[in-house]
This record gives sequence, structure tokens and C-alpha cells, in this order.
Amino acid sequence: MPEDWGEVAALYDIEQPSCRGDEARFWHDEAVAAGASSEHPVVELAAGSGRVAIAVARKGHHVIGVELSGRMIARAVGRSARLPEATRGRLRWIEADMATVDFGEVRPSLVFIAFNSFWLLDDEGQDRCLARLRDALAPDGRLVLDLFPPTEQDYTDEDGITQFLGRRWHGRSVLRVKDYRYDRATNRASSDVRYYSTDRDRGGPAAILAQFRYVLHPEAPERVHERLTKAGFSVQARYGTYARGPIEPESPRAIFIATVARTSVPELADRPRAQPSA
Ligand SMILES: C[S@@+](CC[C@H](N)C(=O)[O-])C[C@H]1O[C@@H](n2cnc3c(N)ncnc32)[C@H](O)[C@@H]1O
Repeated sequence: MPEDWGEVAALYDIEQPSCRGDEARFWHDEAVAAGASSEHPVVELAAGSGRVAIAVARKGHHVIGVELSGRMIARAVGRSARLPEATRGRLRWIEADMATVDFGEVRPSLVFIAFNSFWLLDDEGQDRCLARLRDALAPDGRLVLDLFPPTEQDYTDEDGITQFLGRRWHGRSVLRVKDYRYDRATNRASSDVRYYSTDRDRGGPAAILAQFRYVLHPEAPERVHERLTKAGFSVQARYGTYARGPIEPESPRAIFIATVARTSVPELADRPRAQPSA
């Protein structure tokens, strides 16, 4: 199975809801609270085809989308082409791995990782990513991780999870079929996903459109909190919804808002902060 999200770039856009309502308001409010500006822009890591990054730029913020897949970036650039010139001018895309991305001279006010994508990194990748962000954020900058509280279902294998997408593809319905495997020893939750185009009403033949695998490394909210603290962040707030409700076992989201801890973590207190490159 290919593991490049570019395999499903076009389908991703018809599968995922647009970023609007509480979700769009949440990211806008975070950008404002973090003091986002042209000098200290917003950075979205694992920005995909721009679903969230574009919504934030439409609210008036300067946004850099960092994304591993060139084909996802190509979709994002294609989507931005329809935007007013001023909005387009506030958007930039960087093809890079979020665990090793080099921000150069940019000191972002807000870095966020939406929609569970932080868990696309393994343990080591997550820690490398946090260490890099700790050094790159502007003074008083914010990091927001948008995850979910795993439930027993997330630790249970299941084959053939099927779902019709809400929107059609070239006039035909799209069926998504997922085989899910969780490996406790490595904390790998692997999803093999296949998309079929079907004539749903007439029961016509199904043709495969695309397939890919993605692997998440989910953790309970307490573990995420600990990981942030160990990496030198101070968690300022935790939410279970984009409307800022509390995290409960069945909450749709587990969102962490963190700032760089000043001297609260003794082993990090004396560590010199990296200087931005000249
Ligand atoms: C679920 S999509 C999320 C896209 C977008 N954030 C959203 O909310 O719609 C995950 C994206 O993360 C990207 N990705 C996976 N691993 C990555 C990495 N190590 N660095 C940067 N992007 C990565 C994938 O290519 C994919 O486009």
C-alpha cells in the first residue's frame, strides 16, 4: 500500500468537510490571541491541501503551510488560485517533513497541527518536532495540537469499515473501505483505505479509484500533556471541542494550547535557545 497522501489528494477534498463554523472561528481566535502578523505568521504543519490554512488566510492572517506531499501542495496551490489576490498573497507553502522543517528566520506566532496529524509522526518524530517548535516559536508564541481522546474502538482491529462519501465524484458515488489494525507493542494504528466509484442507486460495478495507508500513533490526553511538558512546553488550556468545551472520554477532539515554559522544567532551564539563522 502506498503511504503518500498524494494518492488521494483530490478525493481528500471531497471527503473532508470545509473548515467553517466553530472550527474556523477556533483557528482565527488562536491566531489573534497569539498576535499573528506578517512578521510573525501562522504556521500549519501537515497542512494537506490547505483545508484549514486557506480558511485562516481568508480571515486575514499570514499563513505558511508545511506539507510532506508535493501532490497535496499542488492541490493547495490549485485551490488558492481561486482566492482574491490579497488572500493568496498571505499564503505560502513549504514542502517539508514537520519533524525536521527549517523555519529559517521565521519566528511563527502560532504553530498548529490540525486534525490528528501530529500522530502521523512516531514517538521520536513527535519529540523532534516539539523540540524544533520550542526553538522556533516567537516569544509568547503558541503551539496548538488538535487531536482526539482515543477510545477502546481505536485499540480494536476491524476490517471492511465502509462509508459512502457525502459528495459525488464525476457524477458517481464514492465508497470508502477501511481495514484497521492496532499494534499495542508499537502503538501503531494502521488504516488501509480504498476508494471505489460506484453507481450506488443502480447497484452497478465498483471501480477502484485510489488506495493508500496511513499510520497514527495515538495517545491518551494525559500522555500528550506529559509529552508537551517534557519537551519544555507549558499547557495553557485543553479543549474537547472547537467551541472550547472540556475534554471528556467521548469528546470529538482533544486540543492542547501550549506556550514555551519559561523556567518551569529544571533540566531545560539552562539550555540555550537556538538563534534564528542570519
Ligand atoms: C489528515 S491530512 C490533514 C490535512 C489538513 N491539516 C486538514 O486538516 O485537512 C494529513 C496530512 O499530513 C501530511 N503529512 C504526513 N506526514 C507528514 C510529515 N511528516 N510532515 C508534514 N506533513 C505530513 C500528509 O501528506 C497529509 O497531507
